[in-house]
Amino acid sequence: MHQWNKYETGVCYYPEQWDESLWREDLQRMKEAGISTVRAAEFAWVIFEPEEGRYSFELFDRFLSLCSEEGIRVILGTPTATPPAWLTEKYPEALNALPDGTLLRHGARRHYNYNSPVYRRLCSRIVEQLAQHYGQHPAVVGWQIDNELNCETGEFHSEADHIAFRSFLRKKYGTLDALNAAWGTAVWSQSYTAWDQIYTPRPVLNGGHNPHLLLDYYRFISDSCISFASMQAEIIRKYQKPGDFITTNGLFGNLDNHTLTRDVLDVYTYDSYPDFALGLDRNPKTSTDLNDRKWTRNLIETRSICPHFGIMEQQSGAGGWVNRMEMPAPRPGQLTLWAMQSISQGADFVSFFRWRTAPFGTELYWHGILDYDNRDNRKLKEVKQFTQLLECIAPVCGAENVAAFALFKDYDNEFDAEADVWHRRIKDCSEKEIFAASELTHTPYDIVYLSDDTKTAALSKYPVAFYPHPLIMTEKRAGLLKQYVENGGILIIGCRAGLKDISGKAPMQPQPGLLQELTGTDIRDFTFVSPAEEHDPERPVFNDVLTPLEGTTVLARYQTSYYAGEASLTEKKTGKGKTLHLGSAFSRETVKKLLEYTGVCEPFRQYAEAPEDVQLVMRRKGSSQYLFALNYMPEERTVTLKQEAVSLYTGEECSGSAVLPPFGTAVWLIR
Ligand code: GAL
Repeated sequence: MHQWNKYETGVCYYPEQWDESLWREDLQRMKEAGISTVRAAEFAWVIFEPEEGRYSFELFDRFLSLCSEEGIRVILGTPTATPPAWLTEKYPEALNALPDGTLLRHGARRHYNYNSPVYRRLCSRIVEQLAQHYGQHPAVVGWQIDNELNCETGEFHSEADHIAFRSFLRKKYGTLDALNAAWGTAVWSQSYTAWDQIYTPRPVLNGGHNPHLLLDYYRFISDSCISFASMQAEIIRKYQKPGDFITTNGLFGNLDNHTLTRDVLDVYTYDSYPDFALGLDRNPKTSTDLNDRKWTRNLIETRSICPHFGIMEQQSGAGGWVNRMEMPAPRPGQLTLWAMQSISQGADFVSFFRWRTAPFGTELYWHGILDYDNRDNRKLKEVKQFTQLLECIAPVCGAENVAAFALFKDYDNEFDAEADVWHRRIKDCSEKEIFAASELTHTPYDIVYLSDDTKTAALSKYPVAFYPHPLIMTEKRAGLLKQYVENGGILIIGCRAGLKDISGKAPMQPQPGLLQELTGTDIRDFTFVSPAEEHDPERPVFNDVLTPLEGTTVLARYQTSYYAGEASLTEKKTGKGKTLHLGSAFSRETVKKLLEYTGVCEPFRQYAEAPEDVQLVMRRKGSSQYLFALNYMPEERTVTLKQEAVSLYTGEECSGSAVLPPFGTAVWLIR
């Protein structure tokens, strides 16, 4: 794995979009602002290969020479997210398609598919050309594969995808009988009698697809994407210099990012755009998801993929395409706040999107650091201040984030929730509320994805783990959870856990299925919370009516509906630990109570006290503890330091009240 050994700041730059006379001055202005790295070339296929088989490196040769002269480091993107017009005209089979087969044409981006043999051949050729040409270039420090895999769409329906889906299924099931059994095709006469009858999910009435097919389809997309990225990485590895890294950017659906990172990349980078939370399509004043602070959730997820990650694109200006996504400009301070949000959650590299706003194209309104007029502005000033702050907090680089509990997830359930709206509704509610409770009580968590390779040792550092709704449960995973609890862990699960098998079917067994031994509960009745009845906001969305089995303690009972008085929260001891079973989805009030009950709430209370709307994050490195405080509000907020601390921003000793300006941040070394 690659890890930055000191904080670095970067910027996304498109030399092909600017007059060459601007390049040197741009690089020099970047340096003045403390920027050391540019990410470039990820959409420049037509520059490198203006016609099939004719390669041209002149433009980027000149740009990279200038970067070398100016001492700017370069992360080069492979340009496979934007196949040129000559390519898709000649090889339309390279294009992605809508479910009905309509091809997604040239004119936007990411209009290709991962499985077309022709496209793979052309991609491997351009990647080989680039890697061969630039692999040893002194300015190059890393490679970005493609751009935001599965962004714009995570669904693929080209002819090549239908064919590849069939191969994927043949490999997985061997026989059609096995596939028919796994998909429950006895329903609605869906049985397949030849492999060629199977397609990626094409249009059907009311979108009522077989959910087991959908689940396998999302697994298939993930596999296709990983093998497409892997093909590129293998080529780059033949030519790259020792120490140069391979990454990709973004965090998108239908993709097992953990496997991608483990098997293909050296480091993972995320693209952070918290301004989406403040867009004109939302009402941040009434929303209950903590708005821009919510981007922390994605950063926690990114940290679970790669503990010391980078940000390849960090919001620096208002976002917007000409046809969608209208966003206000970041308020003074917000650019720094959002970049510090990334740093606080574990980023050691932050690259801003983009140096200067494009004067043309779909992203005419996706604002960069500089505006159209190219003059110095408040955003450039903030970037400079940010890079100075990074110097002040240099010792924090590479520190570990402190987490009070874990949130377990897994890709079977991630993908199942894509296919199943009942599942998604519960999951969305609980993940939002667990995050909100964690933030508002200053009780941070780590996300841990469970897979067949997960070892109990990796879980034992978490005294408490929420695994809110693992509808899909396997013997192996249930065994892992049992060990976790036996070793002293407190496992907290919610409604519907254990309902399904690995294909997403609901076997004939009492719920919570394979988890019953751990929970010591039986479920004989269950329902969505009825919109027609009064309901208890602490037991939202769905209610499993819990019957405690022998040895199980009832901690709370339902207050409403026909099951009022029945158990809604139970506890069962196993070995040194216990399992808490909540019959519903999670509300933030319930999560707060559970954090208190399990003794993990507010782990920093001995160091500092902060209002709810200030985020506290702690990082640890050796014996040093660093406390970040981030104020997401447009007004001042006060944090009370309860121990002697040193502000890393100013070097001053502090104790007692510390005032954070509007959108202000602070980092203290706790004595
Ligand atoms: C990202 C993408 C960038 C740019 C940015 C703003 O999704 O990687 O190329 O488009 O968003 O829209």
